[in-house]
Amino acid sequence: MQTNISSYQVVIIGTGVAGLATAIYLAEAAALSNQTISILLVSKASVSDTNTSWAQGGIAAVASNEDSFEAHIIDTIDAGAGKNDLHIVRKVIEAAPDAMHDLIRWGIDLDKKVDGTYDLVKEGGHQFSRIWHKADSTGHTLQATLMHRVSQFPSIVCVENTAIVQIEKDALGTFHIQAIHNHTSDQTYPNLTVENCIHIQCAQLVLATGGLGMVYAKTTNQSIATGDGIIFASQLGATMKDLSYIQFHPTGLYESNQTGTYLISEALRGEGAILRNEKGVDFMPQYDTRASLAPRDIVSRAIMNEIKKSNIEYVYLDATGLSASTIQKHFPNIQSACQQKLGIDICKQWIPVLPVQHYTCGGILVDEFGGVVEVDGLYAIGEVASTGLHGANRLASNSLIEGIVFAKWAASKMINALRNDIALPISTYHFKPILVKQIDRALVQNYLSNYAGIEKKTADLMKGFNELSQAYQYANVLNQWSLKEWENDLLCQVGILIFKDALTQTENKGVYFNLDLE
Ligand code: SIN
Repeated sequence: MQTNISSYQVVIIGTGVAGLATAIYLAEAAALSNQTISILLVSKASVSDTNTSWAQGGIAAVASNEDSFEAHIIDTIDAGAGKNDLHIVRKVIEAAPDAMHDLIRWGIDLDKKVDGTYDLVKEGGHQFSRIWHKADSTGHTLQATLMHRVSQFPSIVCVENTAIVQIEKDALGTFHIQAIHNHTSDQTYPNLTVENCIHIQCAQLVLATGGLGMVYAKTTNQSIATGDGIIFASQLGATMKDLSYIQFHPTGLYESNQTGTYLISEALRGEGAILRNEKGVDFMPQYDTRASLAPRDIVSRAIMNEIKKSNIEYVYLDATGLSASTIQKHFPNIQSACQQKLGIDICKQWIPVLPVQHYTCGGILVDEFGGVVEVDGLYAIGEVASTGLHGANRLASNSLIEGIVFAKWAASKMINALRNDIALPISTYHFKPILVKQIDRALVQNYLSNYAGIEKKTADLMKGFNELSQAYQYANVLNQWSLKEWENDLLCQVGILIFKDALTQTENKGVYFNLDLE
């Protein structure tokens, strides 16, 4: 039995930078052209419970006279090991300054210097200072700015604690979405006949579901990052590209027995912090002329090499050369997190760090408007998408800007498509039953962490793919399930797709490093 059918022109799943910016650009474009529009933003948890909120570093966009589009393009392609789509790289980088002006117009408050100009900083792989930021909590400021702008449009409805569990498309091209409203994490759902199951339909659907970090044992991602959009898009017929291009951030805070890992921003290295091994040696110059500021794949592999040679599971980040005022001004949250979590004063003590899963450089294959090539009316924006910008390794701080510019391009295409649309009649739709399998999350995380980590081996990838596929095939179907169990099922499917993709890669590029291809 279905209750509560509602119809919108556009449904956007996910409320990080990509989802919120898409809603704003759509609402602005509709207002400009006196077009009525109905937009539903859906958040699995609370609207601010996103990876965007936790982004520390910042937003990359050329802004100074010493810098240039060409330099930002070179840095992006160099980090991406040349696997980038050159047309998209140029298009994004040239659009970035205008996107920053949009953010400023929406009221974002970023750090400025005493002369009133924006305080641009550097991160790994960038030749010039071009990272716009708010101390070490840029994501928090960005999320708040976008949420405020969204609240100014009556055309945007936002629902929280609403988990989309199924998406289908009918013969007329309408998307039908089954969701559970006001869920709690361990409530169980027998066959979705509960009263809080809702049916939403729409003409245009945007997947802005973010990352899939929970498939690994250690990640900087938030617990919502379970790869939902990847599985929905696959079920709708989309192509996945380079899903095994998983970026590990070199400096997650080392805390034994923690899954959610606190990020120690690369901006600290941008300000001069250096990596040291167990013996205190500044080892990065042995690996790359850019030393601690080399691109992330190089730094992560170097750290793993140093860890292998040592007796400890981490290396150190030494920020003691930075002045106390720089740390307090630029890194207040990192300073207090290290104090609270490990009792470390980063002005005086080295920070134990190790590489942890951070970002998915591949994803759902999209065109230059964020449209999913095989599924008309479906868009994927932000981390969930493979746009061609990142190639085989994302340059630091290129992801938030990607989310904003693609949101703008997708909105411009959708608004045109909707111009002559008549309102969708409310129609009943019979969803297929959802079969949720009983999967042990820790098992999936162990397979991915052990066999699809920073350094891979073909035999391990085969083992991971075969054993995880078998585990999934023979897993029991649950009679009733909680959302956590539904997410565990998704994580297993995502893990299998990562192994499958990893086995198709034929060369070591960027974050993809297979010892057997050396
Ligand atoms: C960081 O602050 O190091 C993360 C920034 C990013 O991933 O782009």
